[in-house]
Amino acid sequence: MSGRERQPARPAGNRRLGVLISGRGSNLQAIIDAIDEGRLDARIAVVISNREGAPGLDRARRAGIGTLTLDHTGYASREAFDAAVAGELRQRDVDLVCLAGFMRRLSGDFVAAFPDAILNVHPSLLPAFVGRDAQRQAWEHGVKVSGATVHIVTPALDAGPIVRQAAVPVLPSDTPEALAVRILVEEHRIYPEAIGVILDGGWRIDGRRFIERA
Ligand code: GRF
Repeated sequence: MSGRERQPARPAGNRRLGVLISGRGSNLQAIIDAIDEGRLDARIAVVISNREGAPGLDRARRAGIGTLTLDHTGYASREAFDAAVAGELRQRDVDLVCLAGFMRRLSGDFVAAFPDAILNVHPSLLPAFVGRDAQRQAWEHGVKVSGATVHIVTPALDAGPIVRQAAVPVLPSDTPEALAVRILVEEHRIYPEAIGVILDGGWRIDGRRFIERA
């Protein structure tokens, strides 16, 4: 990764997101709300789900956003599925790809097709508790603080440069489910914020550190 400072994605009022989902879509909703409320200068060009009937697709439709379902089980390989998704995103000229509960690993080719232009939100304070069920992992481990992370996607799972984090205390009375609810509140706050930071430019990556202009 280079240390070059990034320019704004595009002039204000014309920034295009592609959002990938697999399920509920509450983070998608947080992005939609941030745009509607003028907290995020962008528009969602397309929402793509790898699961038919994902509830998040209805959220997109209600907001008048175009949707697509590309069922990964219909493709011969991960690479073939990823190439189809990348093609749809490119066709819509997106500046940034936002993973919002997208439950598929992306191939190196996909990541290379959108260099430093894929974001993910993860329900732990990375690098702790990568992969699935991060809230339960944290609860079982007995940490006293967990949280949420927005990071740039690299080929390694949940390991790219960190753009935003928020801490959430783990309470003695917590269950994994109760902890997940409080972490989700933070995800919804920091994800739209991080998207805005990326689109605005004026940041660079040094090693694996994400650095905003002072
Ligand atoms: C969130 O907890 C997110 O951090 C994780 O998957 C969940 C998706 O939730 N990657 P939603 O579909 O955005 O409601």
